[in-house]
Amino acid sequence: MTDTTGTTPLENLSAERRAFPPSAEFAAQANAQAELYERARADREGFWAEQARSLLSWSTDFSEVLDWSGAPVARWFADGRLNACYNAVDRHVEAGRGDRVALLFEGEPGDTREITYAQLLEEVSRAAGALEALGLGTGDRVAIYLPLIPEAVVAMLACARIGAVHSVVFGGFSAEALRSRIDDAQATVVITADGGYRRGAPSALKPAVDEAVGPDDDGTPSPVQKVLVVRRTGQDVAWTEGRDVWWHEALEAAPAQHTPVDVEAEHPLFILYTSGTTGKPKGIFHTTGGYLTQTAYTHLNVFDLKPEQDVYWCTADIGWVTGHSYVVYGPLVNGATQVLYEGTPDTPHKGRWWEIVAKYGVTILYTAPTAIRTFMKWGEDVPGQFDLSSLRVLGSVGEPINPEAWMWYRRVIGADRTPIVDTWWQTETGAIMISPLPGVTAAKPGSAQVPLPGIVAEVVDEEAKPVPDGAGGYLVLSEPWPSMLRGIWGDEQRYKDTYWSRFPGIYFAGDGAKKDDDGDIWLLGRVDDVMNVSGHRLSTAEIESALVSHPMVAEAAVVGASDETTGQAVVAFVILRAEHLDKVDEAGEGADVAATLRKHVTKEIGPIAKPRTILVVNELPKTRSGKIMRRLLRDVAEHREVGDVTTLADSSVMALIAQGLEKPAASSD
Ligand code: WTA
Repeated sequence: MTDTTGTTPLENLSAERRAFPPSAEFAAQANAQAELYERARADREGFWAEQARSLLSWSTDFSEVLDWSGAPVARWFADGRLNACYNAVDRHVEAGRGDRVALLFEGEPGDTREITYAQLLEEVSRAAGALEALGLGTGDRVAIYLPLIPEAVVAMLACARIGAVHSVVFGGFSAEALRSRIDDAQATVVITADGGYRRGAPSALKPAVDEAVGPDDDGTPSPVQKVLVVRRTGQDVAWTEGRDVWWHEALEAAPAQHTPVDVEAEHPLFILYTSGTTGKPKGIFHTTGGYLTQTAYTHLNVFDLKPEQDVYWCTADIGWVTGHSYVVYGPLVNGATQVLYEGTPDTPHKGRWWEIVAKYGVTILYTAPTAIRTFMKWGEDVPGQFDLSSLRVLGSVGEPINPEAWMWYRRVIGADRTPIVDTWWQTETGAIMISPLPGVTAAKPGSAQVPLPGIVAEVVDEEAKPVPDGAGGYLVLSEPWPSMLRGIWGDEQRYKDTYWSRFPGIYFAGDGAKKDDDGDIWLLGRVDDVMNVSGHRLSTAEIESALVSHPMVAEAAVVGASDETTGQAVVAFVILRAEHLDKVDEAGEGADVAATLRKHVTKEIGPIAKPRTILVVNELPKTRSGKIMRRLLRDVAEHREVGDVTTLADSSVMALIAQGLEKPAASSD
């Protein structure tokens, strides 16, 4: 394996020998005990059937666990029937737990709302009725473009309640990105808000929707018929009569009761777009029964959830899969009480998260390494001012966590006492796949370690052969799992090509990995053209196509360079069209060019895709067949000596690029 992009070099990881077993006290009370592994190994399908039956309420029981005859499209629990919203809400109320708090909402400006399961039931019932009144029904697609407010959770559940398929689009994506996702899924309704609060000020969302649902450049009308608008900030919004509907008015007009629509286990639950190796985002779609089984199972066992006692907080936005599986479905199906925080960690001060932990007595915290590294930068005095003694389990997700950040997380946030679960999974896997079990595993800083009971993962070489302990290769999943994606929306061939063709018959995750001497798995980052910036997946091709869509750019190459805080950062190399060259000064810095292009990428995709650095170059390193050699560009971006250039069509190119770089580059604001 040559081309991994992880943040911690392999040599350093090999030196990592620390291990932190759970305390005897924690181990004794843990939901998941070591025998879970044996049970799952002895009868994998039986194990999953047991999880499905014990964790979910089915209106019709299933007779077959897994149907793999249509591989690589799995069918789990296929003749069973259920409703996702009923499982997340109604049944808790029916069981007499309606007074339990489901959501402890904290808005960025400091407004709060406590929503019990009984109140949540009334809201989702009204919302489901409102969606039906707009003409929506089973199988219809609904785009959700909202800030992290309770209505986002309600909107998702209301879709599930009527059998409609939600497609949540992160509120930080641009109108263009929203449009392409709406069009691809052919969504007929968008649920949005006037705006949300971001860094102490209201920011608008509705204008992006207005732009996204207008006719496109060719005059093709949008499939969207109705736009439901949540009033969050109270700012003025443009209004299209006949199309736009206030959320609160629609809910008031709907009945307080609604019967959830019974669906088959394989009924689509949601589509979520994620970046792949080509310019066009992939609509990953998940179905109902298997997805709910595995999200509930992992949430209960990996976080050791005790629903009556714990206050759980996953800091992810619902725009990402972590928000789907570990803010909405996993916790609510398990009847958890959880914090939902709208804002950023540093508003109005850098201790905001720790203040929230102390205020609500958060016991389980699930976040991303990039956040932890940011807190490390801000210093331990900040969390030191708050009482964090309620915390008992800490989780990490989204990218490899470097051992230093892991140790800091445990020592400063976890008082040297809490287990840490480093959870590896993907939008495609739907739920956690590789992670320690907090009451069982002696955790190693920086390693996700072992596949969960019921999951089969391997590290293989180029020939798909498992590598021996101590060696590196590619991470694959060798057996189907309940929450696996069922495909890419509208493009079955792309599903097969992307995940099942590199190693025929097994799922290729796109990640490099290594097994240590104990056989524990260490994730090393993506081996394809997908970057991981602050735990968000971005595709090099998507940003390149955004860049070349600007009239001044002739050609662009994008790489992910290591970054201390964000894991990777977007670095773009661009060749300008001749008529724009005069805008670039002699040193090749072209500050105004960089600013213009960064703004353009923000408009095309969203601020998260904005390059940290843009370098104007005259040439790009290419192989004789014309493929851009990103490996060499990454060497340049990471200030390393440039590697082997013998396959370059013109080997002097790298010298020219490196020369241009000796001057400070046009960098981030
Ligand atoms: C990376 C996020 C190392 C990995 C849930 C994967 C991780 C991609 C970890 C999926 C982890 C996620 N350790 N790497 N604990 N968790 N990744 O689809 O490269 O946004 O392929 O899902 O994030 O990102 P996605």
